[in-house]
Order: sequence, then C-alpha cells, then structure tokens
Amino acid sequence: MLMTMPTQTQPRALPKITVIGTGYLGATHAAALAELGFEVLGLDVLPDKIASLSRGEVPFYEPGLGDILRRHVSGLPGSSGRLSFTTSYTDAAAFGDIHFICVNTPQKPGEYACDMSYVDAAVESLAPHLTRPALVVGKSTVPVGSAARLARRVAELAPAEGAELAWNPEFLREGFAVEDTLRPDRIVVGVTSERAETLLREVYAKPVAEGVPFLVTDLPTAELVKTAANAFLSTKISFINAMAEICEAADGDVVKLAEALGHDDRIGKKFLRAGIGFGGGCLPKDIRAFMARAGELGASEALSFLREIDSINMRRRASMVELTRETLDGSLLGKRVAVLGAAFKPDSDDVRDSPALNIAGQLHLQGAEVTVYDPKAMENAKRLFPTLRYAATATEAATGAHAVLHLTEWREFRELDPAALAEVVSTRHVLDGRNTLDPALWRKANWTYRALGRPTA
Ligand code: UDX
Repeated sequence: MLMTMPTQTQPRALPKITVIGTGYLGATHAAALAELGFEVLGLDVLPDKIASLSRGEVPFYEPGLGDILRRHVSGLPGSSGRLSFTTSYTDAAAFGDIHFICVNTPQKPGEYACDMSYVDAAVESLAPHLTRPALVVGKSTVPVGSAARLARRVAELAPAEGAELAWNPEFLREGFAVEDTLRPDRIVVGVTSERAETLLREVYAKPVAEGVPFLVTDLPTAELVKTAANAFLSTKISFINAMAEICEAADGDVVKLAEALGHDDRIGKKFLRAGIGFGGGCLPKDIRAFMARAGELGASEALSFLREIDSINMRRRASMVELTRETLDGSLLGKRVAVLGAAFKPDSDDVRDSPALNIAGQLHLQGAEVTVYDPKAMENAKRLFPTLRYAATATEAATGAHAVLHLTEWREFRELDPAALAEVVSTRHVLDGRNTLDPALWRKANWTYRALGRPTA
C-alpha cells in the first residue's frame, strides 16, 4: 500500500541584509530591519562609528533609535542578536543577499552638484566581492541617472551572474527617523527585474501588510520621487515665507494666513510654518543638486524656480538679523543677544546648514555678543562655531541680554515662563524666528514680541 506522507514545507529563510553606511539613514535602516525580523550586518568605513554602534550607542541624537538598536545588537544582554557591524566589504558580501547603500551624498564644495564619491566608492568596493546572486539597493539621494550608471558597474564588477541593482529612496525625517522607517508614507522601488521586486516585497512585507502603499517604478522615476518631494517641500516653505514678506509690507499676519490657507484640503496645513526657513543636511543641498542635474540634462529651465526658492529661504536669515538690529535701536555693536536653539530643527542635534546658527554667526560677525543655548546640539554647534559663547541653560543664555532670539522651536522654549525670564534680561525684547511662542503671553509680561511676517503691536 502506498502511504502518502504529508509534505512538510520548510518556511523559506529570510534574505540576509547588509546596510552600507551607518549615519542617520543607515543606522536607522539597519536597526529597523532587525526589528522587522531580518539578520542584518551594518558596514561603515569609520571604525569609531562601528565600535560605538556595536556597544549599542548611537553616535548622534535620534529619539527612539537607541532602544531598538540595543534590542538587537548582538552580544548585548537580552538582545535578539540579529544586528552586528563590520568594516569589511568581504564580510558584507559573504553575509548578504541584499545590500542597501545608505552613504551620504553631500554638496560639492563651491558647486551646486552632489558629491557622489561615497556612493561610487561603496559600489566599487562591494561589487567585486559579490560571488553569488545579490541585490544591491541604493537608498541615498542621488542625481537622476546615477542608478542606471551604477547598475552597469555592478554588472561589470561582480563575478557572479545575477548581481543586480535597484533603487529604493528614503524619505525619513530627522527626529522621526524610526517611525518614518518602520511606518513610511509610501515605499518606492525602482527595479529592472521581477526578482528584484519580489525580494524588496519580502523586505517590506510587514509595513505593506499594514497598509503602506508599495509603488514599483523604473530606476530614474524612483530617484526622482525623492528629489521631487524635497523640491516640493522646500517650495511650500519658501512660499509661506514669501507671503511673510508680503505680510511685513502690508502689516498682515502670516500665522493667521497660513492657518486659513491650511483649511483648504488641496493646500493642507503641513510645511506652512513661516519663520527663518529650512536648513539641515537634506533640503538645501538636494534642491541645489537637482538644479545642477537639470542643467546637465539640458532641462535647467524646468527648475529655475528653485533658484528663487533658495533665495527666499536664505533671505529669511538676513531678515532676522535686520529685525534684531532694528529692535536694538539700529546697532548690534556691543549688544548682548541670547540665541535659543542651534539645531536646524527641534528633536535633532544636527547643525548642518542650520538657520539658527547661521543667524547667530552673522550677529556675532556684525558686533553683537552672542550666547547660544540648545538642549541637544551644543557640542556640534561648538565644533562648527567655536567663537560664539555657549550657556548651559536658556536662562543663563538670557542673563543680561538686550534681546532674546527664539530660533529652533524646541518644546522647552515654548514652555519658558516670560515673567521669570524677564527678571534676568537687560531689556525685554523677544524675537520669535519660528512663530511658535505665544505673543499674548510674552506681551502680558511686558516684553516686546517681534516676529517675521507678523504685526508689531
Ligand atoms: C527632509 C524631508 O522632510 C525628508 O522627507 C527627507 O528625507 C530629508 O529632508 P529633514 O531634513 O529631517 O527631512 O527635516 P524637515 O522636517 O523636513 O525640516 C527641514 C527644514 O525645514 C527644517 O529646518 C525646518 O525647521 C524647516 N521647516 C519645516 C520650516 O521652516 N517650516 C515648515 O513648515 C516645515
């Protein structure tokens, strides 16, 4: 008699993943993938970074990241052991079925274009070690056309048949990096084969099952989704800041204007906060790199409006300096100015192209005595602007000040007591660069409250 044995289907092993480059993007992506159940190996060329991540320490400030890192870093008590780190490309190639490239793409010094040297180096270092089929997935923000070029390099350099490249742009915001990685608004994958799509669907199966839209495109469209999104967000911010300039000229109130505009569903409330404008490691350099790339493609006219977006943004910093000078009776010389905030936005210690620090620096160069306080970005600020003074608290920074400038909207600053702060300053002038303090509250405590795009009285 023939016995039919029940066939036991072994669950297919999950692909193993490497993450190349462990900065904001890479460290978060690696930890999030471990959280999703994958075995992950993070690679960086900086041994110090690898040493600190291997101890479960995040070398920058990002809420929540330390917790998920420590839940998974191998060798730490109670961890899943699914996440480890290396500096070796040979180890990475031997380990991974999928390799995410998460290195940075800064602006080239003295040019608008993007510096691709880290992405290029990552591909050139990894591909020659790919001795079995593997998928290389770019996440870094790159000029459109880079993915197709890098796909050719992977095919040329990899000894294995079936080593290929896909593009999967990342949209995470600093301060929300963990949330944005585990539950993004959408997942976009640019692929050239069904196999690549299948593998990426496997990586993102959990968020997709939870309803996150998964969009499949060609390589250039995937690259463009990222740069177009950043161009749109910058445009929205500069639009409202241009309206702030008009409000200043016409004595209107840009905060009320933005609120009223935001009720129109087609416009929406988000990214309409007027103030000293956008900074950080992404928006400013991404719109410039986008313009540079459009020029190379012979389509510079299409993006010439971004030049205006950039100028409106940079003008806000100069306007804040002028508003301070005006408040201080026309001269900054010898005036003591307290600057609250150094990070480019709250919940971050990142000071790259920070409007707050840029304004602090300009005031200092024009003769003011500037004292800065930030809850998290002090060390980074001191490294970049060692000539400014730094205080250990907001109150210490404001002590003796002729004007207090609110330049990064940390919650701690919104909760300041204007009456208590009034006791330590020399003169009660507060200038709100982020339009998030309550003018009525400050005026009640006898402060003059000034802000960009808002009426004086
Ligand atoms: C941005 C994009 O949001 C993200 O999708 C992309 O992946 C990277 O670039 P991030 O740089 O972390 O993220 O910061 P974001 O929250 O976008 O803020 C950028 C800058 O715009 C900050 O300086 C912020 O203060 C400023 N901003 C933002 C405004 O001035 N007004 C607003 O209404 C919103």
